[in-house]
Amino acid sequence: MSLMRLAYASEATFEAKPVEKGVEPNVARILMESRRNNAKDEIVGGLYYGDNRFFQYLEGDEEAVHKLYERISRDKRHRNVITLLEEPITARSFTNWSMKYVPLSSDVNRFLDNNGMEAFIPSEFNRNQCEEMIRLIRDSSQDGRVVSHDGVSRSRNRPDVIPGGIRIGLIVAALGLVGAMIYVSTML
Ligand SMILES: Cc1cc2nc3c(=O)[nH]c(=O)nc-3n(C[C@H](O)[C@H](O)[C@H](O)COP(=O)(O)O)c2cc1C
Repeated sequence: MSLMRLAYASEATFEAKPVEKGVEPNVARILMESRRNNAKDEIVGGLYYGDNRFFQYLEGDEEAVHKLYERISRDKRHRNVITLLEEPITARSFTNWSMKYVPLSSDVNRFLDNNGMEAFIPSEFNRNQCEEMIRLIRDSSQDGRVVSHDGVSRSRNRPDVIPGGIRIGLIVAALGLVGAMIYVSTML
């Protein structure tokens, strides 16, 4: 059995529904189908969805990956499918993931910032950027870093520097200080 890997970029054709937390419903359906089929075909990989664009990475038996890619390319839920990487490999690097999903995360935002990119446009990735994306998907944890699609652009432009709990603590401390100053001034 000869193994191969493949990465491509595409644009979603559906309007992204705003979700507070979790996965956009169209993407959730794609993931469900992917996990069911890929497990059967022993294909592993990761799907990244952000700014209404996809970046997908697939590893598996050459014939199985080609067959799947043909099916994916015909799918009407995305368009402008561009192959970014296609080559033989000697071993799988995504163990246990029939299709790992990564939403727009702080890691990817950092990657975009470092590469001077305003938005997630994977069709413009060069080889190194492609490899970095694959590494990010491979190393990311599935939970804990889910960003709502609504908050995506906001969080990229204006990171929340002070967490809510600390902010309230600072306000209480400031009020206490003002109170103490008023009290001291009345004693003078
Ligand atoms: C961005 C994107 C990624 C997809 N990835 C996979 C995948 O990894 N595996 C898969 O079986 N189907 C994937 N699909 C869905 C296929 O295009 C196709 O709808 C599905 O494989 C059909 O499965 P079924 O014959 O079991 O209904 C993807 C579709 C899109 C739009």
